[in-house]
Amino acid sequence: MFKQIAVSLALCALASFATVAAGLSDKVLVNLRVEGTTKTHFEGFVWTSGHNVTTKIGGNHHCDGTNNDTFPHPGPTATTALADSNLMFDGEFFPKPKFDDFLISNIEGESNKNNRSWGILLNFQDLEVGGCQQQVRTCDKVLFAFDKFNKKHILELTGPALWVVDANKSLVLTVRDGRTGLPVQGANVNGQLSDADGKVSVTFAEKGVKGVKAEKDDSIRSNKLEFLVV
Ligand SMILES: *[C@@H]1O[C@H](CO)[C@@H](O)[C@H](O)[C@H]1NC(C)=O
Ligand SMILES: *[C@@H]1O[C@H](CO)[C@@H](O)[C@H](O)[C@H]1NC(C)=O
Ligand SMILES: *[C@@H]1O[C@H](CO)[C@@H](O)[C@H](O)[C@H]1NC(C)=O
Ligand SMILES: *[C@@H]1O[C@H](CO)[C@@H](O)[C@H](O)[C@H]1NC(C)=O
Repeated sequence: MFKQIAVSLALCALASFATVAAGLSDKVLVNLRVEGTTKTHFEGFVWTSGHNVTTKIGGNHHCDGTNNDTFPHPGPTATTALADSNLMFDGEFFPKPKFDDFLISNIEGESNKNNRSWGILLNFQDLEVGGCQQQVRTCDKVLFAFDKFNKKHILELTGPALWVVDANKSLVLTVRDGRTGLPVQGANVNGQLSDADGKVSVTFAEKGVKGVKAEKDDSIRSNKLEFLVV
């Protein structure tokens, strides 16, 4: 039986091996997720390397971790992952000594407005620096989340490591705040709400590949779990 965790770990390990074997060692494979107000704009793996990034309002600038002298050597960053995803995005560049980085102001048509703006997380932790100052490694989880600064939780959905499940059989998933690891109550997963322990029981009536995410008004939507319902 397939296991969710085993699948993604195997993919990352294979990717690391393949990049070294192919002599592409400047590239890494990261899990990129872009959560907008009403939808997920992107969730998947992206190959990325350190390079210049060009935006309409910001122009062409380095984006390889050497920004603001954060890392001594160039490498892939959170913002190059976004740039290498082919999503549409924009942002102003604030040169040294101010920031030496882009401030992402729009992704796929969703713009920073009033006090709602795009925030970046790496492996569910808030970035302390700009996206071009944060280098990333293979298997890292890079999250661009709209209105992050006004949200209480960054939802993370985990399951029982099964990939194949029986139709109409209940499956218990867990919703946590990825930042703290604490359970989140009242998140909606496939029409069911999580309890005080973050547990939610879901069933799939139809066969096929089903993806589920956790959503809550005061929180950033979770990662997707996929199941093959048989
Ligand atoms: C990359 O951006 C820097 C400014 O940050 C600029 O000096 C350099 O010429 C750019 N390189 C390329 C290849 O465009
Ligand atoms: C840039 O680097 C300097 C020196 O390490 C630091 O004091 C400053 O806070 C950094 N600026 C930003 C905007 O990250
Ligand atoms: C942002 O604006 C919303 C209303 O649009 C308000 O409820 C919230 O308190 C504001 N947050 C901050 C940090 O100012
Ligand atoms: C699951 O249960 C529903 C309702 O009893 C039924 O209509 C459906 O056919 C079942 N699904 C499968 C794959 O057996």
